[in-house]
Amino acid sequence: MSELQDKRVFVTGSGAGIGKAIATLFAERGARVVVSDIDKDAAARTAEQIGAAGVANCDVTDEAQVLTAISETVGILGGLDVLVNNAGIEISSPLLQQSTDSFDRIFAVNVRGAFVVMKAAIEHLVASKGNIVNIASIAGVGGSPLLGSYCATKAALIQLTRVAAVEMRPNGVRVNAVCPGFADTSMVDRLIPDFEAATQVPFGDLVAAKQGRLGTPEDIAELTAFLASDRAAWITGSHYILDGGLTASLV
Ligand SMILES: NC(=O)c1ccc[n+]([C@@H]2O[C@H](COP(=O)([O-])OP(=O)(O)OC[C@H]3O[C@@H](n4cnc5c(N)ncnc54)[C@H](O)[C@@H]3O)[C@@H](O)[C@H]2O)c1
Repeated sequence: MSELQDKRVFVTGSGAGIGKAIATLFAERGARVVVSDIDKDAAARTAEQIGAAGVANCDVTDEAQVLTAISETVGILGGLDVLVNNAGIEISSPLLQQSTDSFDRIFAVNVRGAFVVMKAAIEHLVASKGNIVNIASIAGVGGSPLLGSYCATKAALIQLTRVAAVEMRPNGVRVNAVCPGFADTSMVDRLIPDFEAATQVPFGDLVAAKQGRLGTPEDIAELTAFLASDRAAWITGSHYILDGGLTASLV
């Protein structure tokens, strides 16, 4: 039997990209998945494609919507074993030219959103001795031009992961983070023109030189599935880099 068989799972931002791949892999391995996204059509498509247990949409910046979505999820699943905090946005801008509103916006989604969802879900995860996987980024461990505020949000998410893990260990809840390099999703597609303009290097060449290839959403789903499973029973408060070696190299 798969280690994810019958696990009750809620994935934010699972209408597309990495979240969709995570929801898909978990469902393939027997988990009961509730799909959630700000984009209701995308969530409905994912849910239908993977045979999800249900849909409970929310914009993670809206605490009332998050509370409702978690309550709907627990209603559908009868509890919650795994929360995957995947919803996130990118904003590409030279840091000190970024507007304050846009800086606030990315923190509202990537940091406050993850915090609010963890808070809403925690009583159910304590009840099941479940776990949380936060989708951070290598941008949380190293700096990247044009991604200053994004880097700061992902560093913050790693720190939330650490502290939540330590505080929740007595309750039997594990909390970990995954830090992907560049992966093949629409988020990266949106970044390519700005990166190429700034570096004068074709993005494909940069990726080949630094990562070997683009990551796939499935690469990230595999690590997420492992961390969410009982095989990772002694892993908490950790963040795992998967980037084809990008952060391992100084040159
Ligand atoms: N693609 C990469 O290279 C990469 C690398 C490292 C980390 N990440 C992280 O992985 C996560 C997923 O990224 P992706 O590449 O799949 O992005 P994506 O833009 O392809 O998909 C993101 C999904 O999140 C949803 N979403 C956006 N804002 C939301 C909100 N406020 N509330 C609920 N849902 C919302 C979108 O509708 C979309 O379905 C993000 O947290 C991102 O920062 C991505």
